[in-house]
Amino acid sequence: MPKLASDEIQRLDPYKFMAVIGKRVIHPGGRASTAALLDRARITADSRVLDVGCGVATTAVEIARRYGAHVTAVDIAPVMLERAQANVSAAAVEERVAVAEGDILDLVYGDGAFDVVIAEAVTMFVDRQRAASELTRVTAGGGQVLATEFFWRQPPTPQAKEVFLGQVCPGLEFDTVDDWVRIYGAAGLADIDTVTGPFEMMTARGFLADEGFGHSVAVMGRVMARPAHLRKMAWLMPRMAKAVPYLGYIVVAGTKPA
Ligand SMILES: C[S@@+](CC[C@H](N)C(=O)[O-])C[C@H]1O[C@@H](n2cnc3c(N)ncnc32)[C@H](O)[C@@H]1O
Repeated sequence: MPKLASDEIQRLDPYKFMAVIGKRVIHPGGRASTAALLDRARITADSRVLDVGCGVATTAVEIARRYGAHVTAVDIAPVMLERAQANVSAAAVEERVAVAEGDILDLVYGDGAFDVVIAEAVTMFVDRQRAASELTRVTAGGGQVLATEFFWRQPPTPQAKEVFLGQVCPGLEFDTVDDWVRIYGAAGLADIDTVTGPFEMMTARGFLADEGFGHSVAVMGRVMARPAHLRKMAWLMPRMAKAVPYLGYIVVAGTKPA
């Protein structure tokens, strides 16, 4: 990956920064929410799977390895696509995971092109109703859409809300569990099931659980190796610490009627 200039690192959103320092799991519930999502997914070796906003392709690689399914992994950000392709190659699953540029609001795939469509922590950054409808459109009848989103586990203090939505993730909006069910229901999904849990991606415990000890040390090594990484981390961590007690994830799983 080309080395970013210091001012480019300062401007990265937290998720792209996580990718740049080599973090593999980049969504609110960490591996726990991916496990909850995959528990609800009906994936077999024959499934056509689409992972939208795939980030560095950690879940796409896991699906290819675990189920032997073919996965199309799309993201809008070049920095994520580069990382995703490198991770797919390192995992030697190029034959089962195709990485491509794609926009959740305007997918290039035909109606009903996939059996299982996944979007972990993506819909919440964009026009959620349009994104949910687009995910549902490319899902075959009888197939599933499964998504992970943020929600407030408990009402945030005004300071926590301002720090997270105003500074860490400007433009992000939150919905309640009922709102997410309504949004995906209005997109055309039935039998909607939800599961919620805490945000642990940036706690010490969650970081270690998601990345493993050896890889956590490697990520921290990359942070220490550049003053620009250290400055970004020093800006991010105290802000995250204010919001973490109030943050949670929700996994929404629904079926497109046949
Ligand atoms: C929080 S990260 C989640 C990455 C990945 N799904 C994961 O769970 O590790 C959000 C991802 O959505 C991507 N993204 C944002 N807007 C998008 C859009 N309009 N279409 C496709 N991907 C988008 C970002 O580039 C980023 O990779």
